[in-house]
Amino acid sequence: MDCFVIHWRFLTAVLSCCLLISGGSAENDSKPNILLIMADDLGIGDLGCYGNDTIRTPNIDRLAKEGVKLTQHISAAAFCTPSRTAFMTSRYPIRSGMASESSVPVILWNAASGGLPNNETTFAKILQKQGYTTGLIGKWHLGVNCENRTDHCHHPLYHGFDYFYGLPYTLVSDCRPGLPSEIMPKLQDELLFLNQVIGLGLLSLILGRLAGLLPVGWKVIGLLSFCGTLCFLSWYIPFGLFRQWNCIIMKNNDVIEQPFEIEEASNDLLQEAINFIERNKERPFLLYFSFMHVHTPLSEDKRFAGKSKYGQYGDTVEEMDWIIGEITDSIKRLSLENKTLVYFTSDHGGHLESRQMGKQTGGWNGVYKGGKGMAGWEGGIRVPGIFKWPGVFQAETTINEPTSLMDIYPTVVSLAGGTLPEDRTIDGRNLMPLLLGRTHRSEHEFMFHYCGSYLHAVRWHPKNSDAVYKAHYVTPIFSPEGAVGCYNTRYCMCYGPGVMHHDPPLLFDISVDPSEMHVLSPQTEPKYYNIIKQLQAAVEEHNNTLTDVPKQMSFYNVIWKPWLQPCCGTFPFCSCSKNSEMHSADDPN
Ligand SMILES: *[C@@H]1O[C@H](CO)[C@@H](O)[C@H](O)[C@H]1NC(C)=O
Ligand SMILES: *[C@@H]1O[C@H](CO)[C@@H](O)[C@H](O)[C@H]1NC(C)=O
Ligand SMILES: *[C@@H]1O[C@H](CO)[C@@H](O)[C@H](O)[C@H]1NC(C)=O
Repeated sequence: MDCFVIHWRFLTAVLSCCLLISGGSAENDSKPNILLIMADDLGIGDLGCYGNDTIRTPNIDRLAKEGVKLTQHISAAAFCTPSRTAFMTSRYPIRSGMASESSVPVILWNAASGGLPNNETTFAKILQKQGYTTGLIGKWHLGVNCENRTDHCHHPLYHGFDYFYGLPYTLVSDCRPGLPSEIMPKLQDELLFLNQVIGLGLLSLILGRLAGLLPVGWKVIGLLSFCGTLCFLSWYIPFGLFRQWNCIIMKNNDVIEQPFEIEEASNDLLQEAINFIERNKERPFLLYFSFMHVHTPLSEDKRFAGKSKYGQYGDTVEEMDWIIGEITDSIKRLSLENKTLVYFTSDHGGHLESRQMGKQTGGWNGVYKGGKGMAGWEGGIRVPGIFKWPGVFQAETTINEPTSLMDIYPTVVSLAGGTLPEDRTIDGRNLMPLLLGRTHRSEHEFMFHYCGSYLHAVRWHPKNSDAVYKAHYVTPIFSPEGAVGCYNTRYCMCYGPGVMHHDPPLLFDISVDPSEMHVLSPQTEPKYYNIIKQLQAAVEEHNNTLTDVPKQMSFYNVIWKPWLQPCCGTFPFCSCSKNSEMHSADDPN
C-alpha cells in the first residue's frame, strides 16, 4: 500500500513536471524578447528620423522606418535619476520619494544612501517572475547601497535584473581627466577658495610665530592646523578623488573597473550586450541597454572622431547609432527579429547649456523650447520613442498621441503575461492597442510635468478633441536675459528665486503651437476659463493620490558617505582594472 502511494506520487510528479515543461515552453514561445535601448541626454532633434539633416543616424532611422515612431513621447522628468525612476516603476518619481526638493536633482555619487526604494516593483522584477532572463547593461543611476558598502539595496540585481554589467552611477565629465568638473562646480570652487584662504592664514600665523611677531601659542596653531586639515580633506576626498569613487564598472555585485577608461568601457558594453543576447537566444529575455552616450564627456573614439558634420557631439551621436546597429544586427543574425520587440528612447531632452571651450556639447531639441532640467518646456521632456516588432507592428507608422516613458512598464508586463501591482498607483498605460492600431486615442488625458518635487506644468488632451493644452504654473527664469536656457548656472532651478510663478498659468495649445510661442488668452481662446478650470481640477485630483513617502533625495541621503563606497581592493585604496584579473575572470555565465 505504502509502496503504491509512493509510486503514484512519483508518477504524478513526473507527469506534472512534463506538463509544466511543455506548457511552459509553449507559453514562452508566445513571449517576445524585449530589447529596450535608452540614450542619455539625447535631443529629439538629433536624429534623422525626427528631422535632422546633418547628423547621420541610419540605424535608428531604420528602426523607425520598419516600425512605429511616436512624436509626442514624454519623459516624466527632465533629469536622469527621476526620469529613470519613472521608467522603471511606471510612477511619477514623487510617489517613490525620488523627486528632489533641493538643488540636487540627481544622485551625485555611488556612496549616497538614496536610491530606488526596496518596495518599488520594477517591470524587470515582474518579467523575471514571468520566466524572462533579465539583464541591464549600461547606466543605472538609481543608487547602490543603504547601510554598508555591500548591501546593494538599490542595486539592479535587487530590482529584478539577473545580470548587470555597467555603471551603477553615470558618465560625467569628471570621468575624463583634464575636463572641467560637472559636480557642483560652484561649491567646489568655493571650497577650494576657502582652503586656500585657510592655508595662507595658517602659513602667515606660523611664519609670524617663528619670527616672534605674533603672540599665539603652538597649541592654538596646532588646533587650527587640525581644523584646516579637516576642511581640506572634506573637499579633497569626495571631489578631488571623484573619478576614483564614481567612474566605476560593476559586473553583478563586483566592482571590476575602478576607475574605468571611457572608450574601452563603451566597447565592453556593446560586447556584453551581444553576449547577453547570444547566451539567451533560446529563452525570452529582457535586455535593457542603457547608454552612457551622449552624456559628456563626448566620445573620443578614433573610428568616429571628425566624421560627423557636427563636431564632437555629432561624432558621439553617430557612434551611438553605430552601436545600436551592432546590437540589432546580432538580433537579426540569430533570427530573433520576429520575436523581439525593440524600443528606443532618451531619458530626457538635450542639454542646451552644455558647452566646452565655446563649443556646443549638448543635444538639440528641434522645434521644442528648452531642454534638460526644464521639466515644463517641451524640449526638456519630449524625446524620441520608436518601437519595432516585424510582423506585429505595421512598418512606417507614426503616432502623434501623447505617450509616456512610463508606458513601457505596463506594455512589457502585458506582453509577458504578467499583472500590474494593485496596491499602488501606476501612471503608465499599456501601449499595445495604440501600437497595433486598434485604437487611435491615447489613454493619457492628463500628464503632470514635475521639476524635482515641484509641479511646473500640466498637459491635457481632451477627449474628442485634437487639441493638446499645456498650462505652465511655474517656469524657470532664463539667464542671461533673452537666452532660452540657464547659461549662467548651467542648469535651471526648479524652485525659489530661479523660477517665476504664473497665476493664471501660461496656456498653450501645443497641437498647433509645438514651440510654445503663442500664449492663449480669453480673447484668443473662447474656452480659456473652462480649460484653466479643468486643468486645475485635474491637479487637485492628482494631488489627492500623492502620499508621504521617505525622501530618497534628502540632504542626508544625497551626501557622500565613505562607508557606502563601492570599492575593489581595500577601502580607501580602491582600484582595479579588468585586464589585471583577466585570468581569474573566467565567466561561466
Ligand atoms: C541636427 O543636429 C545638430 C546637432 O545637435 C543641430 O545643431 C542641428 O541644428 C540639427 N539640424 C536640424 C535640421 O535639426
Ligand atoms: C519575419 O516576419 C516577416 C513579416 O511577417 C516575414 O516576412 C519574415 O519572413 C519573417 N522572418 C522570419 C525569419 O521568420
Ligand atoms: C514603501 O515604503 C514606504 C515607507 O514605509 C511607504 O511610505 C510607501 O508607501 C511604500 N510604497 C509602496 C509602493 O508600497
